[in-house]
Amino acid sequence: MVTARITVNGKEAPIAPAAPHTTVLDFLRERGLTGTKEGCAEGECGACSVLVARPGVNKPTDWVPVNACLVPVAALDGQEVVTSEGLATVEAPGTPPVLHPVQEEMAVRGGSQCGYCTPGFVCSMAAEYYRPDRCAHADAGAGTEATGGAGASGTGDGGTDDGGDAEHGPNGFDLHALSGNLCRCTGYRPIRDAAFAVGTPTDDDPLARRREQDPPAPVATEYRQDDRAFLRRSTLAETLRLLRERPDAVVVAGSTDWGVEVNIRSRRADCVVAVDRLPELRELRVESDHVEIGAALTLTEIERRLDGSVPLLAQLFPQFASRLIRNGATLGGNLGTGSPIGDSPPVLLALEASLVLADADGEREVPLAEYFTGYRQSVRRPGELIRAVRVPLPLSPVTAFHKIAKRRFDDISSVAVAFALDVEDGTVRKARIGLGGVAATPVRALATEAALEGRPWTSGTAEAAAEVLRGEGTPMSDHRASAGYRAAMLGQSLLKLYAQTTEAVPS
Ligand code: FES
Ligand code: FES
Repeated sequence: MVTARITVNGKEAPIAPAAPHTTVLDFLRERGLTGTKEGCAEGECGACSVLVARPGVNKPTDWVPVNACLVPVAALDGQEVVTSEGLATVEAPGTPPVLHPVQEEMAVRGGSQCGYCTPGFVCSMAAEYYRPDRCAHADAGAGTEATGGAGASGTGDGGTDDGGDAEHGPNGFDLHALSGNLCRCTGYRPIRDAAFAVGTPTDDDPLARRREQDPPAPVATEYRQDDRAFLRRSTLAETLRLLRERPDAVVVAGSTDWGVEVNIRSRRADCVVAVDRLPELRELRVESDHVEIGAALTLTEIERRLDGSVPLLAQLFPQFASRLIRNGATLGGNLGTGSPIGDSPPVLLALEASLVLADADGEREVPLAEYFTGYRQSVRRPGELIRAVRVPLPLSPVTAFHKIAKRRFDDISSVAVAFALDVEDGTVRKARIGLGGVAATPVRALATEAALEGRPWTSGTAEAAAEVLRGEGTPMSDHRASAGYRAAMLGQSLLKLYAQTTEAVPS
């Protein structure tokens, strides 16, 4: 058996003797790399962000920031990680490290107050610094203010008037890159100043050069300790055979749910099976009558590869948790957990998606509308995996995703509503509406769909259908929202859609 190993800041180390449930965060800190911090241990603060070398979208390798508190270190067998310590360079033994350009900008612009959040911000910022299409944007001259280094001219109040907008710097820096990093000292403005001031990597930058080489290949992992195991097979067929033998196994892809179970609920699974690197689960194909999305592609990969071609998904992604979570989370995981407040099911219900389920005997296709059977229950059998999600084509042209939550980003839905309507000659020909947060499962708003179809798309129709929508599902009251609020938001969501599509507020 090959010993599981991980490369951290250029140095390879064995993963043993870490237990199979040990997170990357704990592994790093136990080895003295305490720049990586624990804030929440559940993927909400970003203090634990580290960079992982992953298959790139525009270059062979991307530096992808993830929440180290959520990922089992055994999942990074054979992989490369860079922490905040690894960004700085030591030019000669005994000399102080030379700060990385993003660290330098954070320092000189006052982006670090207590500093607890800073290493995580720096890792997320470094990933954006190395994002190839941002670099291309900056090199094209849109970011003439962004020269990098301590001497760069400041962006003052945010400096968005020379090529940027409220969420993008003149250097192409996308602030959504920081949506999973919280700063409790309210130091966001200087952090934004630092982000909007970074330049582009120099030719001899080692992490920039690393992007030109292939990422580390996935390796089969057999990591066991006592009676517990973390297992990764190389192919789908091998994985399905393993799941037949171990139907009790916990299946992980991005591990965003697993990490919370381990850290907050102290769950210790006897057997964890990783599926995130299976090539059969990582394809994205556009066919004549459907788009097939591999269940183990991360949401960031899907977002970048679809590039807006499925507008309803394009509306979903920025509102789904944070960039750090989307860098690990998958559609397969979001559907596999069966949560009634997952954000992808309402959208996929409105898109009339179906799931390709695979086991050792073969595959079957199940419409998502028939997939959920109860609270966190589904028709998926023990030993069965979600291989892909199919979205039928053509797409309905009128779409919207409304997520009602306490924060705009990095939050859990109180209610989520997705619409997909065909409106021809002023009449609603077809309506598909997916709801989250109003029942034990994600549901279609069938009565509202019927109230819309065949009717003129007018304020009267919208108001009548909104009344029907307020009665859909069985919303309950909890710490996020009352049942009455949830019902009211459903109706309001349809009125908002009407206002958005007609640019007139219904009377
Ligand atoms: Fe908060 Fe990991 S410690 S996201
Ligand atoms: Fe204090 Fe970020 S500088 S939490």
